[in-house]
Amino acid sequence: MTAPKVLITGASSGIGAIYADRFARRGHGLVLVARDAARMEALGNRLHAETGVNIDILPADLGKEAGVASVEARLRDDADIGVLVNNAGLSVGGPFETQSQADLSNLVAVNVVAVQRLAHAVAPRFVAAGTGTIINVGSVVGLVPEFGQAVYGATKAFVLFLSQGLAHELGPKGVYVQAVLPAATATEIWSRAGADPAQIPPLMGVDALVDAALVGFDRREPVTIPHLHDAAQWDTYQAARVAMIPGFAQTVPAPRYRADLT
Ligand SMILES: NC(=O)c1ccc[n+]([C@@H]2O[C@H](COP(=O)([O-])OP(=O)(O)OC[C@H]3O[C@@H](n4cnc5c(N)ncnc54)[C@H](OP(=O)(O)O)[C@@H]3O)[C@@H](O)[C@H]2O)c1
Repeated sequence: MTAPKVLITGASSGIGAIYADRFARRGHGLVLVARDAARMEALGNRLHAETGVNIDILPADLGKEAGVASVEARLRDDADIGVLVNNAGLSVGGPFETQSQADLSNLVAVNVVAVQRLAHAVAPRFVAAGTGTIINVGSVVGLVPEFGQAVYGATKAFVLFLSQGLAHELGPKGVYVQAVLPAATATEIWSRAGADPAQIPPLMGVDALVDAALVGFDRREPVTIPHLHDAAQWDTYQAARVAMIPGFAQTVPAPRYRADLT
């Protein structure tokens, strides 16, 4: 069986470029998506020379309608694509009240809307085939409002929820959905967001991050958090959430909200 083709968004640098390298070395053809065509051409040429796999470049701005639509079309029409890596993303620096609405709208467009639309474009084909993989790159920031990146964190909370929800809905239909939640990793995302070098925390290497994420992928983990050493903490967090579910099925408000009881 030939390895399915992998479409990777945000493949021009950082985590996406390493995903491209690793999937090429595993024998997968690639479709690389980002805005910077020249960087993707250079990466594609190198990986083709080193691995022999076919690599297509699909330049697209995922913050713009035309860009998302072109990638949606490719995902719908190219039956060889069996893996979608929703990795493209950005953050916006500065405090909420000074961030520009244009920057925040673009953040939500790329980190949320494009992720949802690309998953939605490919899902019918994967469900019909009874197989396929969607990898969504979120962030631990989506678990930590205390980091003070409200909108970026909210986009990443969306990515985690979407991934868990799609795993629940599409998993029984043969589609594997993985959320990858990196913490601080050495990529361009920091400089692109204008981060003060003095404020940047210790960073994990991007090769180590992606290799760890692929260990989770090979194990078919639903959620992979390479920086988190104590996996029991995540399990406890999930168990506490799931334990609340029966508590939501009430028809009267909790006593603490009943004016007639106070
Ligand atoms: N590095 C970290 O510490 C860290 C931690 C947690 C999560 N993450 C997540 O990891 C993912 C990858 O980021 P990275 O750290 O590898 O950063 P990066 O090196 O800055 O890469 C971001 C990628 O997204 C692409 N991109 C940005 N805006 C785009 C747009 N409008 N349309 C299409 N592509 C766009 C960029 O390509 P072009 O500029 O060529 O378009 C680039 O390939 C993101 O989702 C990020 O939120 C990173």
